[in-house]
Amino acid sequence: MSNKIKIAVPIAMIVGLLAGCFPKASTVIMSLPVESKEQIIARYDERQLQEGKAIFASRCTHCHGLKDPASRDAAAWNKILKRMIPMAKLDDAQGQLVRAYLLANSEDK
Ligand code: HEC
Repeated sequence: MSNKIKIAVPIAMIVGLLAGCFPKASTVIMSLPVESKEQIIARYDERQLQEGKAIFASRCTHCHGLKDPASRDAAAWNKILKRMIPMAKLDDAQGQLVRAYLLANSEDK
């Protein structure tokens, strides 16, 4: 085994270990298609939307006040949430529930 490999293997293992300890926030939100309020309401039930509301209220208020879902239309939320869901470090499921709640209650356009 060359010296380079002798060093590279343990380094790769340490990097892998550290990455595992700090799981990255959801990235699935980045690849979701832009959806309308109607599409979201058809796809989620009331229980899921209430769950999204609870996550929104507890996780989206660390840096600023609670935003009014009706302050923006679905198109605006689709865009903003690609920045804010990673900021709030939500996982895939949490991110999608918060997105569903906000889109379902967004401003009508
Ligand atoms: C780590 C801090 C942090 C968290 C957590 C956070 N935000 Fe933000 N948010 C910011 C900052 C900073 C701004 C203003 C700068 C900007 O727009 O990027 C902002 C701006 C916003 C805006 C206005 C943006 C615009 O362009 O009109 C909305 C709406 C918003 N956040 C919603 C949310 C929602 C929903 C969540 C939860 C998923 C959330 N934020 C979680 C830091 C945060």
